[in-house]
Amino acid sequence: MNLKKYLDERRRLVDRSLKQMLGAGGSFPRTIDKAMRYSLFSGGKRIRPILALASGEAVGGSLDRVMPFACALEMIHSYSLVLVDLPAMDDDDLRRGKPTNHVVFGEGMAILAGDGLLTEAFRVMAEGALHAGQDRSAALRAIREIAAGAGAAGMVGGQVADLESEKKKPTRLLVEYIHSRKTGALLRASVRAGAWVGGAKPGQFARLDRYGVAVGFAFQVADDILDIEGGTEKTGKREGRDAERQKVTYPAAVGMDNAKKKARELLAESLDALSSFGPAADPLRQIATFIVERAVQP
Ligand code: IPE
Ligand code: IPE
Ligand code: MG
Repeated sequence: MNLKKYLDERRRLVDRSLKQMLGAGGSFPRTIDKAMRYSLFSGGKRIRPILALASGEAVGGSLDRVMPFACALEMIHSYSLVLVDLPAMDDDDLRRGKPTNHVVFGEGMAILAGDGLLTEAFRVMAEGALHAGQDRSAALRAIREIAAGAGAAGMVGGQVADLESEKKKPTRLLVEYIHSRKTGALLRASVRAGAWVGGAKPGQFARLDRYGVAVGFAFQVADDILDIEGGTEKTGKREGRDAERQKVTYPAAVGMDNAKKKARELLAESLDALSSFGPAADPLRQIATFIVERAVQP
């Protein structure tokens, strides 16, 4: 398969669905509509929705049924970026190659745009659960996964640890604690939600989950590497912000060479988890390879 073509197609599909779903619950005041769309349609990689779709596909599920959950994952991810970029948190002014939400709309409106995106995500998932032909119990499980992955036991909790650990000694244990939550939890939930709605059998679910854990961790290790070596053109973010803010990152804990080694090991682990799947899991294999290669290749 041609990965670039696959990712482009999926991104377009997700963007089209996001546009359809956003606002289908009623019209928004103009300012928040603009602020929400500004961050949602600013050119992200759409990795979480694409993972959810690919996970559903790996077990023979239909794209249509997974799509509302895929879109909700991207809305939640976008909300998290809007809030994490605020001056009260990481104080970033560049995201996806554009000025951050609060720089354009002001802090109050950025917070509300984040609130709006997070809340809409749950409406969209409820619509997905009510969709004709949907397995309601699987849909509810997916909603529970995504809520847990995004919430205080997952992404939000990880962001708490990330903030509280600035300037602390970056031990491997601390980094693993932060990374598995602030980034790993939502990526893992993406894979798990896609598996539920796709109709995974228990054995398949366990293997996909193992894949999700490895990919989730690999993603943040890769993000840490790219913060140092990626450059703004590739990441759409300012380079070197982690060092400036004295963040606890994987390269800071173990050195750059070992961080790259770890990313490769996690890629191998994620591919191993899929070894009993046939070609239907090729997109998942390719996505994991893309995430890691993007960061470790010179
Ligand atoms: C950035 O996520 C924030 C992290 C969790 C590391 P992505 O790298 O998925 O950002 P976009 O959506 O492509 O901009
Ligand atoms: C992502 O991690 C945090 C979130 C939960 C949004 P980072 O702090 O590394 O995010 P970037 O590097 O600014 O995208
Ligand atoms: Mg980062």
